[in-house]
Amino acid sequence: MNEMDIQRGGRPSLPMRGVAQPKRDQVLNLPRVHISTHPVMAHKMTALRDKNTQPPEFYRLVKEIGMLLAYEATAALAVEPVEIETPLERMTGYRLAGGIGVTPILRAGLGLAESFREVIPDVQIWHLGLRRDEHTLQAMEYYNQLPLRVNLQVCYAVDPMLATGGSAIDAINILKRRGIPRLSYVGIIAAPYGLLKLSQTHPDIDIYIATLDETLNDYGYIMPGLGDAGDRQFGTF
Ligand code: PRP
Ligand code: URA
Repeated sequence: MNEMDIQRGGRPSLPMRGVAQPKRDQVLNLPRVHISTHPVMAHKMTALRDKNTQPPEFYRLVKEIGMLLAYEATAALAVEPVEIETPLERMTGYRLAGGIGVTPILRAGLGLAESFREVIPDVQIWHLGLRRDEHTLQAMEYYNQLPLRVNLQVCYAVDPMLATGGSAIDAINILKRRGIPRLSYVGIIAAPYGLLKLSQTHPDIDIYIATLDETLNDYGYIMPGLGDAGDRQFGTF
């Protein structure tokens, strides 16, 4: 939260002041949590975090980081054999079995949804609008375009920032009610507090993140973080 936000919202709230938070090393080895160790990821993350990185470059980096995450998150997808002919002979190839869905948590998740689309062009995109109230840090649903018919083998909820975990937990709750057989969460930066909450609330999902940061500040922002991921992607400062 910056001076402008404080002026807009009147008195600043400090919803995380005094709240006990786990340390980073306490959540490093949670089951089904995958934290990237790729050097190219570390390189791109540094550029992304830099306060001098402007929205066009920031959005491009989100999409590139998202593609690296999409490769990691799709590594265990089911495939089925398919007969094809190369110019030289017949062979058995493989194709992804069953539909793949991506749910961007609006609005900051839009860049990551584009990344999945680059990697797997025929993903279904299920938009879900959740907005975090900056005073209470509770997520509020404002948009839902999830289809009634489900024909997916897996759906990825994507959102760059996992702070208190409220938005991610709500998104997975909403997707679970659709009866999708397998769900995963894909994010860029997580705080230990939100990562632990999400992992404990939904121990049956895989969680893929690019990096794990240190803590949340009193306003609920990830430290050192990158600021507001939505504003930095879309230039709304
Ligand atoms: C941000 C972010 C996550 C959420 C994370 O979105 O993109 O959705 O906050 O915080 P949490 O883990 O404490 O719930 P925000 O609500 O600011 O909306 P935006 O994407 O429109 O910027
Ligand atoms: N949302 C953001 O965009 N950034 C944070 O640090 C926390 C929530």
